[in-house]
Amino acid sequence: MIDHKQFKPNQLISIDDLDLEDIVILYKITQEFKKILKNPDVKVPDIKGVTIANLFFEDSTRTRVSFEVAEKRLAAEIVNFNSVSSSINKGETILDTVKNIVAMKVDLIVVRDPHSGTPAFLSKLTSVPIINAGDGTNEHPTQALADLFTLWDKGLNENNSKILLTGDVLHSRVAGSSIKLWNKIGMPFQLSGPKTIRRKTCKENNPQETQENLIIYTLRIQNERLKKELIPSKDEYHFYHGIKFEKTNGKNWIMHPGPINRGVEIDSKSADSKKSLVLAQVEIGVALRMAVIYLLAKKRGAKPLS
Ligand code: CP
Repeated sequence: MIDHKQFKPNQLISIDDLDLEDIVILYKITQEFKKILKNPDVKVPDIKGVTIANLFFEDSTRTRVSFEVAEKRLAAEIVNFNSVSSSINKGETILDTVKNIVAMKVDLIVVRDPHSGTPAFLSKLTSVPIINAGDGTNEHPTQALADLFTLWDKGLNENNSKILLTGDVLHSRVAGSSIKLWNKIGMPFQLSGPKTIRRKTCKENNPQETQENLIIYTLRIQNERLKKELIPSKDEYHFYHGIKFEKTNGKNWIMHPGPINRGVEIDSKSADSKKSLVLAQVEIGVALRMAVIYLLAKKRGAKPLS
């Protein structure tokens, strides 16, 4: 039995909410859920009676569906909010929207928003725990946690493996959370790509993509946030900085949080290669989100995992 009571955070807005002990507990429970999901005969510990509101004010496929699948596996009650068909379109603010949803007595809120800082802002106004499902260019903690777990799960943290982070690091909330997480656990990483779309807080270096034991973690070029002058054109970006199978020779492990812009940050041959972890990241995402929801729901008084 895993002692989840040692898990300290009441919510997950940022990687800053977790210390190393919390990450270990979260990963142990993720491992349990991963095993349980593979075995249809084992009963999944449930959080029946816990109502979760999924508030997505920005487009999403993976994160939205992954949270929903995770909540369903845990037998939670789910309320899905879609801003396209909501009173936001009649002029209601996000704050009023969330106040109204909280008044309906939900137990957990999952929020995605195009503005950096919205989950932190909302968390100051309600005692209902908030899980950040991606805010602007700031953070996407469950994605970063799922991706690091994927690396460990595949044993890729061993044998002097190195991560090369490339793509639109500047606008990527996944990069925001991953850099914090990798720094927190002391995992080395390197950066490549154009300087115009890097983060100023990161050291600059340009390793060779063909070096041994390199895990290439590439990020989407974020068309919706990228100013035109930062990269000359998608074709030129692909030519100079895109991950190309002919260049890596299929030697490197490839990670990408999705959605993928094929032919921009990565070619299809690399994205679909045997060394691509893209769908493994998605698969782990469900178990990881189950663990996050489970731990936060237990803080609100449900039964322990046994
Ligand atoms: N990785 C990720 O956040 O994808 P979605 O935007 O589809 O949720």
